[in-house]
Amino acid sequence: MADLENKITVDERLGHIAFIMDGNGRWAQKRMMPRTYGHKHGAENFKNIVRYCGDIGIKAVTVYAFSTENWGRPKNEVDTIMNLLSQYLDTCEEEMKIHNIRYKFLGDMSVFTPELRKKIEHVEELSKDNGLLLNVALNYGSRAEIVHAFKVLAAEGKREITEEDISGALYTAHCPDPDIIVRTGGDIRLSNFLLWQAQYSEFYFTDVLWPDLSPSDVDEIVREFYRRKRKYGKV
Ligand code: IPE
Ligand code: IPE
Ligand code: MG
Repeated sequence: MADLENKITVDERLGHIAFIMDGNGRWAQKRMMPRTYGHKHGAENFKNIVRYCGDIGIKAVTVYAFSTENWGRPKNEVDTIMNLLSQYLDTCEEEMKIHNIRYKFLGDMSVFTPELRKKIEHVEELSKDNGLLLNVALNYGSRAEIVHAFKVLAAEGKREITEEDISGALYTAHCPDPDIIVRTGGDIRLSNFLLWQAQYSEFYFTDVLWPDLSPSDVDEIVREFYRRKRKYGKV
């Protein structure tokens, strides 16, 4: 880590950061606004934070955008999130060009409309040679992901199953495990996010609500990461 003139940059030790983007609803409620208002601001901030992570040299960012359990929310909230997603996908082409983003969507996309899936596939294909990997976990649940991986391995007729086989059959097969998992919004849990991949991830929990997370908060996360000593079970 270099902190020249207050500009933080990272090295290969911090290649992959993951965010549980939590607290949109409470952010809106604090302003006497509907929860959906928080999702709009959360979506805006997501773009800012991803760009900032790229600026400081992080190679891969994973965000938890919508869980397999989030379908249980009121219909108008789910509809708003899906509309935001669709609007976001429409702006992706510009984002990917300006910020060199390579998009990957993690989760079971089969539940989405053919139109939305086409957009997702288009964005992934168009950005596949870009540099900054952005994994968007969407209709994602870690247990569902693990079950899916086992089904893939079973269909291949695998008998001797290794850890590498399982990692390679997960939605995250294309990238290393996260070095740090950040959760905003004050709750201290994973909520079905990257259970397998979190094996030796560092964890960072903050009370800051997602729409308020700022570049200087990211700087503090980076500084805290470099204060940690990762031991991987060794001495
Ligand atoms: C996270 O914010 C965004 C999604 C889960 C889609 P929340 O909507 O969970 O916000 P809080 O936790 O209720 O404040
Ligand atoms: C986790 O947040 C999911 C996302 C951020 C997309 P939730 O708000 O759904 O998690 P719980 O319900 O508080 O555990
Ligand atoms: Mg929440």
